[in-house]
Amino acid sequence: MKKVLIIGASSCLGSNLATYLRRHYLVYGTYAQHRPRIEDVPCFQMHLDEDTPILGVLKTLRPDTVIYCAGITDTQLCDRDSDLAFALNATFPGTIASAIGRFGSRMIYLSSAKVFSGTKGNYVENDFPDPQDIYGSSKRRGEEILKRYQNVFVLRLPTVFALGSLNQRSMLNRLLRQLWRGEKIACISDETRTFVSGRDLCQAVGLLVDADPIHEGIYHLGSSHSDTYYGFATRLARALGLSTKLISPVSGAHFHGKTVRHRHHDLSLGLGELRKQFGFEPEKPDEAIRRLQLGLKQGVFVPSP
Ligand SMILES: NC(=O)c1ccc[n+]([C@@H]2O[C@H](COP(=O)([O-])OP(=O)(O)OC[C@H]3O[C@@H](n4cnc5c(N)ncnc54)[C@H](OP(=O)(O)O)[C@@H]3O)[C@@H](O)[C@H]2O)c1
Repeated sequence: MKKVLIIGASSCLGSNLATYLRRHYLVYGTYAQHRPRIEDVPCFQMHLDEDTPILGVLKTLRPDTVIYCAGITDTQLCDRDSDLAFALNATFPGTIASAIGRFGSRMIYLSSAKVFSGTKGNYVENDFPDPQDIYGSSKRRGEEILKRYQNVFVLRLPTVFALGSLNQRSMLNRLLRQLWRGEKIACISDETRTFVSGRDLCQAVGLLVDADPIHEGIYHLGSSHSDTYYGFATRLARALGLSTKLISPVSGAHFHGKTVRHRHHDLSLGLGELRKQFGFEPEKPDEAIRRLQLGLKQGVFVPSP
């Protein structure tokens, strides 16, 4: 059975991936501060810093695939500490790719739509990246560093709605908590995003774990459907039988105030190479929300194959 190591299994996406991939592979995970408890997935602490014996860990474990889910995702923290953002989002992924290259393993790096400025929208893989903030620039730097290595698959993600098993920071967890508590929510109604489900993410990553090495390169987890946060939140509330009256539309300018220097007006990602090379099709938004609703009813959210 193939061995998969998820660096950052404590992240929202990493814990979803671990839960899904453990059915098909021997999955191990790392965490820095928040120890994940995922059945059949042994996790150990690996705080990434200059002293971490990354090569030793990888030599001992010899994974066939490393999925890099760690990172600094809080854009305000990226602005405050750009060295940390570049280290976690770019330098360490490079160190890991260089180390595993020695054993012929592959790496899957989760990048972001924010490598684009958001002026055009519907971005495809060969559009020219033009990041406008520290987070986007650090993810782009990560992509550039990883270009030097073979056997690297870069998956650029839009907004993924996945329930983190323990991670309270995810956009969806926050939104659901507020809706359930009956709190008022202001959602941006003039910025466009692609929303894909955790199940889509898991299936796309599963394809890359098994892909022939000739397919290495950059992929977009895109969709032909895009929406605003306001549109997504109201759709979700309606599907869950919750009041949409609590959700009010606001402009991005009003929402961000002065905290954001650059607004990403349209960061939607088109589905290009994943469809062309693997025949991948994401779920339709209503199907994805129905599946989520079912998962919530059952008290768990495990994306099914
Ligand atoms: N969520 C999305 O919609 C989305 C969209 C585009 C791209 N992405 C990319 O997908 C990846 C996962 O995103 P996410 O939202 O699931 O992340 P997240 O929930 O914010 O989790 C961040 C992860 O980074 C780890 N980490 C932070 N500092 C670390 C350090 N010094 N050493 C080792 N690990 C450290 C955290 O470990 P602890 O929790 O244990 O401290 C956690 O596992 C990220 O690379 C992100 O850029 C996500």
